[in-house]
Amino acid sequence: MPSPAHRAGLEGVIVADSRLSEVDGERGRLVIAGSDVEDLAGRISFEELAHRLWSLYLPDSSPDRIRTELGEARLKAFALIPTLGDALEAQDGMDALRAAVSHLRESGPLPLQSNIWVTAATGVFAAAWAAKLQGGRPVPPDRSAGHAADILRMATGEKSPTKAKGFESYLVTVSDHGMNASTFTARVIASTASDIVSSVVGAIGALKGPLHGGAPGPVLEMLDAIGRPERATEWLEAEIAAGRRIMGMGHRIYRVRDPRAAVLEQAVLQLERSGIGTPRLRLARAVEEVAEGLLRKRHPDRPLNANVEFYTAVLLDALGFPRSLFSSLFACGRVVGWCAHIAEQRATGRLIRPESRYIGPRPL
Ligand code: COA
Repeated sequence: MPSPAHRAGLEGVIVADSRLSEVDGERGRLVIAGSDVEDLAGRISFEELAHRLWSLYLPDSSPDRIRTELGEARLKAFALIPTLGDALEAQDGMDALRAAVSHLRESGPLPLQSNIWVTAATGVFAAAWAAKLQGGRPVPPDRSAGHAADILRMATGEKSPTKAKGFESYLVTVSDHGMNASTFTARVIASTASDIVSSVVGAIGALKGPLHGGAPGPVLEMLDAIGRPERATEWLEAEIAAGRRIMGMGHRIYRVRDPRAAVLEQAVLQLERSGIGTPRLRLARAVEEVAEGLLRKRHPDRPLNANVEFYTAVLLDALGFPRSLFSSLFACGRVVGWCAHIAEQRATGRLIRPESRYIGPRPL
């Protein structure tokens, strides 16, 4: 047997056939469950999106059923909060979410119920941590609300349908994205025949890193540090010269602007048209333009454009979420994709077990 190829970071390696989403990095196209992301965000509900991803492997998951059962599961997850020990006291939102979700037990024999359970709990725990962060007590769910609207209200107290729609667009946009690091993590764990909660806890850990889902908070910090469009060039030049990465720029797969950046930028513009303040939009656009130009000069052969995190930061900020919650909100959307991939991986029944090349000393 020939020696297997070694690809650092598994770049270009296909590890699964998937019916869930396709990322075309050259053309900047993202297809989720058969539709372009541009045709999903702002047009379908979170529950409908969950149905489209989950029904590929779990036929009984109608959008109405998902909505009803998600509402009930949010209430049950809220009732669990007193049993979570000090999980929600963690300083970091993702540490809190990881610890809180790890308290869950898979509920019942049906995978659909398990998907609903971890999805509901992720939203409730993220919002509860945000409420505590702001000095309040966790706000109880409203079982009759849509999942996006309810997370927004529980986390910020905001009831505006326009803002809820903006947040729903966000959750739909980030729901799935090929074999990204957290999804791969979830699939590796699922491939060992472990349980869904373990897969999701592992995925949260992978998502936390700033090279994956931890970038939007730092994007906002960068915008704050720059302050005015006129300062963008000087600030960004200094960062690049110091060898630091510009958060929200660059992507492993995309060689053009991430299509999700455009979708989320549109969602911010929609808020603006509805009279909702979008304090950092103009500055963000200016910074993006300057960063793109400087990175093009520095890496002429490696296009580095805005990724999803860049406008995530601007959108979630305009919706009133605290920046320390941004990565947890990413998890609230991506958990739907993780669940779908876990089901897909289980259907293959194949353990994921690559190899390493030993480069250490050998016994003489
Ligand atoms: N700012 C400055 N330089 C960057 C950069 C960025 N955001 N992203 C990549 N580069 C540089 C790298 O330093 C590297 O330079 P070198 O060849 O001189 O060492 C070159 O571009 C190629 O990058 P590479 O390490 O191959 O990219 P990758 O595919 O491993 O990285 C990311 C992809 C997303 C991890 C990377 O672009 C990044 O760190 N972005 C910032 C964090 C971020 O926004 N994360 C959210 C991702 S959705």
